[in-house]
Amino acid sequence: MLEQKLEELRRATLAAFAAAISLEELEEARVGALGRKGTLAQISKEFGKLAPAEKASLGKLLNAVKEDLETDYQDKKQRFEESELAARLAKEWIDVTLPAPGIRPGSLHPITQLQQEIEDLFTSLGFAILDGPEVETEEHNFDALNIPPTHPARDMQDTFWLSNGHLLRTHTSPVQVRGMRQFGPPLRMIAPGRVFRNEEVDASHEHTFYQLEGMMVDREVSVANLIYFMKTLLSSIFKRDVTVRLRPGYFPFVEPGFELDIHCLICNGSGCAVCKQSGWVELLPCGLVHPNVLRTSNIDPDEWGGFAFGLGLTRLAMMRYGIDDIRQLQGGDLRFLTQF
Ligand code: DAH
Repeated sequence: MLEQKLEELRRATLAAFAAAISLEELEEARVGALGRKGTLAQISKEFGKLAPAEKASLGKLLNAVKEDLETDYQDKKQRFEESELAARLAKEWIDVTLPAPGIRPGSLHPITQLQQEIEDLFTSLGFAILDGPEVETEEHNFDALNIPPTHPARDMQDTFWLSNGHLLRTHTSPVQVRGMRQFGPPLRMIAPGRVFRNEEVDASHEHTFYQLEGMMVDREVSVANLIYFMKTLLSSIFKRDVTVRLRPGYFPFVEPGFELDIHCLICNGSGCAVCKQSGWVELLPCGLVHPNVLRTSNIDPDEWGGFAFGLGLTRLAMMRYGIDDIRQLQGGDLRFLTQF
């Protein structure tokens, strides 16, 4: 009886071990057969009732079954562990000999690129590059440029005023004043920089943008000189024919003043958000320096004259690269910036 039970236990357990497809299943089969309350433990209990001669022979069998099962169990367990380890190694394998991913070198912002090009052009024409503060005095930003306290032009420039009475410069024109006062005539200078206006932001307006101011003061400077420099500037930037128009424009610091517009290069003149559907973009306001401006900077307007222009660098970058939304320029999105 017991002998049959032992043989049956051996057969069934080996079959269960063989059928197990995971460590858990294998363990379950082991506990069922060899565990403290397993089949083998139960069979052992019946041993007490046996005659001594039977005990000896069946005891041998019992030990042999137990040993067989344990050996087979250890064997299967080891195989499971090995294949589990192999699977993990295959999954988590890293080729440490691969080269590290490359570091992308930075690139210059499109406005910086354009600014540097224009700086090269004007230095080749004998202009100095000047810098001025972004926090300006009211005097430099308005008064010295012939914009008196009551002048409507102060409303035109929606200004960020600071609590100490200073302001964020609304244009690069105050650098003209600084240049004239520091160096005196004759003077050829440009001043690229960041300017600020209290604007509602949309596709063509930003509260922060870039201009490039230019000024030449000398004896007998005329509109012809002005037009020559503006044409040189535009053909050097666009390297292609652009349609321009010159119309009278009013700025308190120039007389006469002009608006130089170019045919919108985003829509080729058919109308878009950037040119406000007009087909033209104001790019280069300019004029002959107003005598009052020369005078407040200690230059005698009877002896000296000059021209000045205020190039919209941000807008120019948009025209040149076909950018139809000004907000992208300061958005910091590398997918956008790395295209240039
Ligand atoms: N400062 C003017 C602005 O930001 C632009 C400007 C117009 C500058 C005429 C000039 C100029 O030098 O002559 O709107």
